Amino acid sequence: MRRASIIMLFLVTLRLSAACGGDPEPLAALHSEQPASLTTEEYGEQLFRNMGCHACHSIAPAVLLAPSMAGIAGSTRTLIGGRTMLADDEYLTRAMLQPGAEIVEGFRDDMPSYADTLTDTQTRALLAYLKTL
Ligand code: HEC
Repeated sequence: MRRASIIMLFLVTLRLSAACGGDPEPLAALHSEQPASLTTEEYGEQLFRNMGCHACHSIAPAVLLAPSMAGIAGSTRTLIGGRTMLADDEYLTRAMLQPGAEIVEGFRDDMPSYADTLTDTQTRALLAYLKTL
């Protein structure tokens, strides 16, 4: 519980500093449906920032609090216990909706579930974006 509140505080601080800092690209409004002006991948990228994924996950090879998303789609992931899994569409979708189902080796079960947050369209857009990384 304590650990969870520390993470939340971290996320809130990050959000605030992004809003107050000299970030040239302010957070776009959170659209619940894909705006016509964006491709599915661009919408996914916007969600990745607006839903806070980027607070824990880097899209560069750097590992933050969580595994990097660089090159994740189609790669082989090693889970706690040594089992390996192919990061296909099914795996990546489950990682967002039921993060506790598979825990990546070297990490803890710290990711919040997005099952109640993401619409199907948003889940598909995030998946499309992850596949571009
Ligand atoms: C509070 C930090 C946190 C946030 C926010 C978060 N994640 Fe995670 N995520 C983790 C951690 C820690 C793991 C590794 C443990 C596990 O496998 O569940 C993980 C695992 C994953 C994995 C599997 C990674 C792998 O190496 O196989 C994917 C995919 C993923 N997250 C996507 C997302 C997406 C998309 C979002 C936003 C909708 C998000 N995460 C938000 C912490 C976070």
